[in-house]
Amino acid sequence: MMETKRLFSGIQPTGNIHLGNYLGAVHQWVQLQDTCDAIFCVVDLHAITVAHDPDALRKNVMEMVRVYLAAGIDQQKSLMFVQSHVRAHTELCWILNCTAARMGDMEKMTQFKDKSHKGGAERASVGLFDYPVLMAADILLYDAVIVPVGEDQVQHVELARTLARRFNKKFGDVFTIPEVQLTTEGKRIMSLTDPEKKMSKSASSELSYIAMMDDAETVRKKIRKAVTDSGEEIVYRDDKPALKNLINIYALLSDMTTDEVERKFIGKRYGDFKNDLAEIVIEFLMPFQEKMQKIENNEVQKILENGAQKANEIAERKMLCVRKSIGLL
Ligand code: AMP
Ligand code: TRP
Repeated sequence: MMETKRLFSGIQPTGNIHLGNYLGAVHQWVQLQDTCDAIFCVVDLHAITVAHDPDALRKNVMEMVRVYLAAGIDQQKSLMFVQSHVRAHTELCWILNCTAARMGDMEKMTQFKDKSHKGGAERASVGLFDYPVLMAADILLYDAVIVPVGEDQVQHVELARTLARRFNKKFGDVFTIPEVQLTTEGKRIMSLTDPEKKMSKSASSELSYIAMMDDAETVRKKIRKAVTDSGEEIVYRDDKPALKNLINIYALLSDMTTDEVERKFIGKRYGDFKNDLAEIVIEFLMPFQEKMQKIENNEVQKILENGAQKANEIAERKMLCVRKSIGLL
């Protein structure tokens, strides 16, 4: 039998998951767990690299796990755990800081430049600067080969490859070199109020995204108010980006092709299409929310305890090699 490849992905517990996160990421992970040896980590230590509220963090970690369970991540197939429950992540991060990461690499990281400029570079935390090394530690601890990420994270996975190679060259064959795997394009869901921007929870208007916890009335209102392009026909075309985005959502949630959606609405108006789309979104969200609500906190806690135990075993084995290779007694 062919050995299944190890997959690792990290998810920041930043509440308010939206339809873009679901269609662009979670939905694919649910499929990948069937063919890979998948590990999904809630990266709480990455979430504290920017100012955070402790109560919100606690709540968001639990909510994140419930979203994944409701979406179909199955603990029989995948390992789920919280980053801070496995101390080896921070230990390996420090060791990589000292033995493999160079200031020259780190100063090239574009996400740090973007994020640190927002609050003034002088005030950015040292943790934010070191974030990509912690991410490399996440990946290398588990010998992950497949690392599915969005475009903005590719540079970080490249860094993990560089650090692994550099470390191996100096200290022996300790780490597996990970591969970048871009999450499928075309599943980029755009804002409902500005189709040039990606759907994002940090957008200024709540009308721009559909949160996974929105109720039916809110969904109807947001879709009714979604911008559309000029014209009357329901067509999937690049020069009609707002409509294209809505047709995409429709197609993904109803398992239709965009052609089929176009055909279904020949001769209909925008209003008819939007009403139908709202109902499709609601039909998807309501059972999802019901499932989420049925998942009890103690069930989540058990899954996380079990996950932490298994992850610790794998990570500790790797750390024995790492410590030995660099001469720690
Ligand atoms: P974020 O919360 O922005 O860090 O995103 C978490 C995951 O959701 C990443 O894998 C992103 O690629 C994905 N994602 C976020 N926003 C969108 C979107 N509008 N369309 C598709 N995927 C998205
Ligand atoms: N930095 C990633 C993000 O914001 C999350 C992350 C942390 C991650 N560690 C990882 C992703 C390891 C893949 C592998 O999306």
